[in-house]
Parts: sequence; C-alpha cells; structure tokens
Amino acid sequence: MAEKYSRATLTRNFLKTITRIKNPDEMLEEASGAGLEKTLGVWDLIILGVGAIIGSGIFAVVGIAAAGGDSSLGAGPGLMISMVIAAIACIFSALCYSEFATMIPVAGGAYTYTFATLGEFAAWMVGWVLMLEYAIGFIAVACAWSNHLVQFLSGFERFLPAWLSNPPVWLVNDPFTASKIVAANPDIFVPRVFGVPICINLPAILIVLLMTAILVKGTKDSAKMAGIMVFVKLAVIALFVIAGAFYVRPENWTPFAPNGIEGIFAGAFLIFFAYIGFDALATAAEECKNPQKDLPVGIIGSLIVTTIVYVLVALVLTGMQDTSGAVPAGFLKAPMAYCMMTIAHQNWAAGLISIGSLAGLTSVLLVLEMAATRILYAMSRDHFISKRFQKIHPKFKTPALLTWTVGLLAVVGILTLNLDVAAELCNYGTFTSFIIVCVAVLILRKTDPDRPRPFKVPFSPVVPALGIITCGGLMVYKSMQPSSSALLFPVWLGVGAMIYLLYGFVKNRLNENKIHNEKVHNRKQELLK
Ligand code: ALA
Repeated sequence: MAEKYSRATLTRNFLKTITRIKNPDEMLEEASGAGLEKTLGVWDLIILGVGAIIGSGIFAVVGIAAAGGDSSLGAGPGLMISMVIAAIACIFSALCYSEFATMIPVAGGAYTYTFATLGEFAAWMVGWVLMLEYAIGFIAVACAWSNHLVQFLSGFERFLPAWLSNPPVWLVNDPFTASKIVAANPDIFVPRVFGVPICINLPAILIVLLMTAILVKGTKDSAKMAGIMVFVKLAVIALFVIAGAFYVRPENWTPFAPNGIEGIFAGAFLIFFAYIGFDALATAAEECKNPQKDLPVGIIGSLIVTTIVYVLVALVLTGMQDTSGAVPAGFLKAPMAYCMMTIAHQNWAAGLISIGSLAGLTSVLLVLEMAATRILYAMSRDHFISKRFQKIHPKFKTPALLTWTVGLLAVVGILTLNLDVAAELCNYGTFTSFIIVCVAVLILRKTDPDRPRPFKVPFSPVVPALGIITCGGLMVYKSMQPSSSALLFPVWLGVGAMIYLLYGFVKNRLNENKIHNEKVHNRKQELLK
C-alpha cells in the first residue's frame, strides 16, 4: 500500500514537474539582461519575412505542385486555389504568432510560448520539432541552392572549364541522390573507401559556412544582406510575371482542376513549404526596436506580399505551360526558368531568373539558420542545453558559439541526410508548431486573461480553432499517404521525448537543486551575520 502510495506520489510529482510553466514575466526579465542588440525596425522585419519565405517553394516545388510528381497529384491551374488555401492556414497561425510575439517579445518563438502555457515537457518537444522546421529545412534549402547553382553554371558551358560547368556527381550531391544517379548511369565515377561511396555536396557546405559567418558577424548586417537578396528575387519574379504574361494562352487554364479537389489539396500541402519562414520573425523578437507595433505588421505584411506574388506566378506559369497532363522534366525542376527558355525563348530572362532563385534561396538560408540559433539560445537559457551557448560575442553581439555549432551540425546533415525526406519532415515540424501556437493562444487567454496584449487575435476562439483545423487537416491528409516522412516524424518525436527524459529533465532538476542550495547558503550567511 505504502509502495503504491509513494508510486502515486512520485507519478504526481513527476507530472507536476514536467507540466511546470514558466511565467512570461520571468521570461521578459531574463530577456532584458540578455545583451542581444535591438536593431530591427518594421522594414527590416518585412524584408527578413519575405527573405525567409520566398525560396525553393516558388522557384522549384511549384512545378510539382502544379503538374504532380511521383507521389502526389497535380493541382493544374487550380494551383492558385492551393496557394490561397495554404496562405489561409498560415494567416490563422500568423495572427496567433503575432499575439504572442507582442505579448512576450523574447527569443524562442513557439518554444517560448509553449513554455508559458503547456509547460516544460511540451516546450522541449516544440523546441525539438522546431529543429525539424529550421535546422532540417536549412539543410534541405542548402542542397536546393546547390542544385540551382549547378543548373546555373551548366548554362555557361561554352565559357567555363568542364569541371565547373559540369562538376563531378560526387562533389555536388548528397549520398542518396548520388547513388540514384549512379544506379541510372553505372559509368559515372564515385570514389569509394572500403566500398563505401564518398559523396560531398561541396556547394551546399560552402554556402552553409558562408551564411554562418555572416550571421555571426551581426543581425543587422544579415538583415541588410537579406534586403539585397529580397530585392533581386522580387525583381526577377516581377520580370517573369510581366514578360511571361505575353506568352500566356488562356486555353491552358482549362480544365481548371484536372485532378479535382484532391489535386488542389495535394498542391496545398506541397506549396505550404513555400510559406514557411514568416514564423521565424517571432524568434527575433528580442532584437526588435519596437516589437509590440512592428512584429504583427512584419509577420502579416510579409505573408500578404508573398501570397500576392505566389498567386501571380501561378497564374502566369499555368497559363504558359499546359499542366493538365505530363510535363517536361525541366518544368518540374525550375519551372519559371524553363518557361522563359523553352516557351518564351528568352534565354537572357531565364538566366536572370536563375540568379534570382539563387538570391532567393540564400536569403531563406540566412533566416532559417538565424531562427534555429535563436530557439536553441532560448532553450539554453532554460537550462535544457549547455549555458555556454548563451555566450554573446563581445564585438558582434551575436550568439557566436551557438551559430557556429548550428552551422557545423548542418554540414554533418548535408553529408548524411536524404533530402527529399528532409523537406517533408520540415513541413511536419512546421504544421505541429503552428497548431501548438494556436492552442497556446486559447490557453493563455483563459489562464492569464489580464496580461496586456498589444495585439489580439480577432474573433478568438474561432480564428485559432480554424488554424488548428486547417493545419491539422493538411497534416492528416499527408499522413494518410504512404511516405517515409510519415513514418519518420513519430520516430523524431520519440527520440525527442527520450532525450528530454534522459538529459533535459535531469539537467533542469540539477539546476533547480543548485539554485535551491545557493538560496539556503545565502540565507544561512545572512542569519550568521
Ligand atoms: N519558404 C521557404 C522556401 O520556399 C522555406 O524555400
């Protein structure tokens, strides 16, 4: 009986500990002494937002979303509707992000909001899931960047040496992609050590190291660089829309939805990847000059700009290329550049679009890496990971050690990961964090109704509930299709829970004991005096 009682007590204590929430006031107080420089204004935020959002989604994934791929139906011209569906799912979550970001403007985004509402364990899990979105997404986009560079260089065959215009397969691919290429062409050379093929995606590794160095140098500089990239990518997209409009054949818009509503939803799931990134702004809240006013405008503004751009691209793209049946492989890889080269026969425009896509992917890389480091920074502050990572560089005022650690881990990921799966896992991570933020808004409205909310989600609880339904619906839809990511996602969650129990939980308790002992010691000293 006694044993039963103590077990019940232990379980109760354990549950109480892992659901322990962190008071938002405590978070604000910690953040006030953190030392991150407050340099970002509203335009910096919109630029960082658009910089984070417009990337491989619109320059590459859009082709498969329109015409279909190996495991997904195409939306056809109905892609415009898919884009609006994905944008609506994001806007509900964006409103919830804005409420939190203005109420608790500290580093960490969804991780921080979960700690304030659902407690320690849920916060750890959200931090872990956000690593799928930002760190794994970072790796996936770095490899897409490498593909675009190789494609761009191949256009200069006549001017560049062969090793540069047509680099060796083993130097520009991850091991999985390289082995697929070699299986199809067994004559291709790949070096082997003890029979194991050695493949290094060198351009991806170099761009990751460059982004890391830029981020270490300073957030304001990173925002400036993202500004240039954003300008370049918006300019080439405008070029595509304006020049491409002359080659649109309205008959390509019928049938509007060749695969019906199912094709439109499949397109919405895929193109959701193109919207990932606006939430990264919330992770930089601590570096905003005026987060209460600027963050909602930054988050929602960048989402609106992006949706308009995406719908225009979808309109022109599906008007230029018939997407109701099979399409050429070039359209699936780089649809805008393909249409300009093959349909409009404007090679110069295709070249500019390739440059724009490289710029686009570069700015996405910058923001995704920054978001990954800011979440880990917040987790370190909560004693989940080593305190050393909180160290701010004395000159650059950025978490330099943490940023280099993320950069080097990304290099390891590039050397070992299957990147198709990485991109899908990134979507799963993002849907989960969006759903949790919507749930957290509803909880905090009940548990802390009087806390000042400079920005309030309109029509709550309807808007957060719609966010949960739309994101959850798209995630369930994808989980019903057989895919490796649908299996790997629960595995990722399981590994995260194990690490928490064996490391995060223990580390936090040791820290609590230390604080308690220090308090007792100080008290004793006072009494002795
Ligand atoms: N939204 C980002 C992209 O499309 C992740 O590359």
